[in-house]
Amino acid sequence: MYNSKIIGLGKYLPDNIVSNADLEKIMDTTDAWIQERTGIRERRHIVKGSDDTTFTMGVKASKIAIERSGITSKEIDLILFATLSPDYYFPGSGVLVQDALDIPDCPAMDIRMQCSGFIYAVATADQFIKTGMYKNVLVIGSEYHSGGLEMNTRGRNISVIFGDGAGAIVMTRSENKNKGILHSQLHSEGKYAEELSLIGPNTRRWVPEILGENDPDDVSYFPHMNGQFVFKNAVIRFSEVIYAGLKKTGWQPSDIDMLIPHQANLRISQFVQKKFGLRDDQVFNNIQVYGNTTAASIPIALTEAWEEGKIKEDSKVILAAFGSGFTWGSISIKW
Ligand code: UT7
Repeated sequence: MYNSKIIGLGKYLPDNIVSNADLEKIMDTTDAWIQERTGIRERRHIVKGSDDTTFTMGVKASKIAIERSGITSKEIDLILFATLSPDYYFPGSGVLVQDALDIPDCPAMDIRMQCSGFIYAVATADQFIKTGMYKNVLVIGSEYHSGGLEMNTRGRNISVIFGDGAGAIVMTRSENKNKGILHSQLHSEGKYAEELSLIGPNTRRWVPEILGENDPDDVSYFPHMNGQFVFKNAVIRFSEVIYAGLKKTGWQPSDIDMLIPHQANLRISQFVQKKFGLRDDQVFNNIQVYGNTTAASIPIALTEAWEEGKIKEDSKVILAAFGSGFTWGSISIKW
């Protein structure tokens, strides 16, 4: 059995900044409400007509991660693409990355686990590397939310939160059992599937415009969130998986160099920080400027923390996520 480690990181955010003041002009919301309830000041949205899509943002982040990894794209053995906003209903976006990076015959798999998608993808890559089946795995989280949000007062509880962007990492085989990915933990609870979901289109109901059933009251084609219920579950599940990571690694909360929570809501991160008694410099947050980018939030934050020198050789890092499914999980890394 081998171990796996991260050797390259990259991120890509579209240029277009959408501030809370911009949203005040198109829906009944305020900068004060958004900042107080979520911590978000601004987010990035792809501009209509731009070349950016879910997979192209993933490719841009991947090229940076590969460049920094010291290997070439031809050496990638597997692509894992975490997203809830794939370019097509099918096939997944991973195959589009395979084509864009021109890695002949490289297997590509989409991971559809929403906010926990990147955690699931890293855990999956880790297992393929540990068994020796693949040596180098490209793991991407990318989301194009803005094209599918209801940008009006009816959709405001969701549309002010989500932003677009992508992050990517390159993972490789390591002989050192004491470093790299030390522990991963994954969970789901499908009975709450509809508490945070986008129900249509599905195999029983395709897009109403195509069917000629354009009903202005039909919101099933927009994301739905039972915000308070999701919030309550999030703080419990985040805490459980972080605790599991600490128990498995034998670390104390004071040993953590960087906790990177999925950027769901600044209040959730602050709750978790307080629960484990962590200092500000032990927790990374950037939801203030990017909003919630779902599967992309952890790889974007991880890349930024690394770029800012907050993660270095021997750093003890925990990644944790909770979201739609419900799904949740954590990854513990000795860098
Ligand atoms: O990433 C996946 C995991 N996601 C999460 O973990 C998110 C969890 N949930 C949350 O972050 C929060 O529940 C929200 C940010 C979504 C909402 O915050 P909240 O404090 O739970 O507010 P609420 O939904 O209870 O709504 C309070 C009030 C309501 O008005 P009334 O009924 O009290 O008159 C809403 O209609 O705020 C209203 N409201 C807004 N007002 C201004 C909802 N959205 C907005 C808005 N601007 N954008």
